[in-house]
Amino acid sequence: MRLDKYLTSCYIGSRKEVRGWIKEKKIKVNGIVVKDAEYAVDEINDQVSFQDKVLHYQVYHYFLLNKPKGYVSATQDNYQPTILALFQDLPPLLVQTLFPVGRLDIDTEGMLIVTNDGDFAHRLTSPHLHIEKRYLVTYEGMLKSYQGEPIVLKDGTTFLPPQIEPIDNQNLYMTLTEGKFHEVKRIIAYLGGKVTALKRVQIGSVMLPKNLEVGHYLELSVEKIQHFFAI
Ligand code: URA
Repeated sequence: MRLDKYLTSCYIGSRKEVRGWIKEKKIKVNGIVVKDAEYAVDEINDQVSFQDKVLHYQVYHYFLLNKPKGYVSATQDNYQPTILALFQDLPPLLVQTLFPVGRLDIDTEGMLIVTNDGDFAHRLTSPHLHIEKRYLVTYEGMLKSYQGEPIVLKDGTTFLPPQIEPIDNQNLYMTLTEGKFHEVKRIIAYLGGKVTALKRVQIGSVMLPKNLEVGHYLELSVEKIQHFFAI
């Protein structure tokens, strides 16, 4: 890979900036200054440094965010802060590439995956893979008993049967394999209740870590993200 492309893929600067740094002799490959932007870097075996700080080449990043209420699951919004505002300690050039995988409503908390890997996002949200998403639901009202039949709303919308595990008469866990708009809230409304708080606690076999504070994130390794698809 060309040296300038390698450097932009480390999200340290734009193509123009990294070319300037190469000319200014700020870039070394295996400890030796390289002044040619087209120098072919072996991204596995070469050690590249910028101002003597070793760089780590990684194009795709995966973050597990504990989303707070009040943030929109989008990359841009005219009125509300987006979840990208919670990644301000990362290089801005990397943050620009990130997007949320699927959506949580603005008033929903919990586990949201944020990445720049479009194929991974596509797989994780594919309706064919039926990846389970588990929610802790707090509600008010008396729910009618549910026997696991498919749910059909008055407007004709259908939902695959959710798995419901009651906790008490205000809280339950609900596991879904689809990702339809306001799905939990609409299922609870169908059952005669109203959601008052919602938190996603698990996707596939990956759980929201108990010690991850609301508004914080952790980076997931490429090995770890395979667990989303493990049954
Ligand atoms: N279902 C909802 O109703 N809201 C969410 O944010 C996620 C699932």
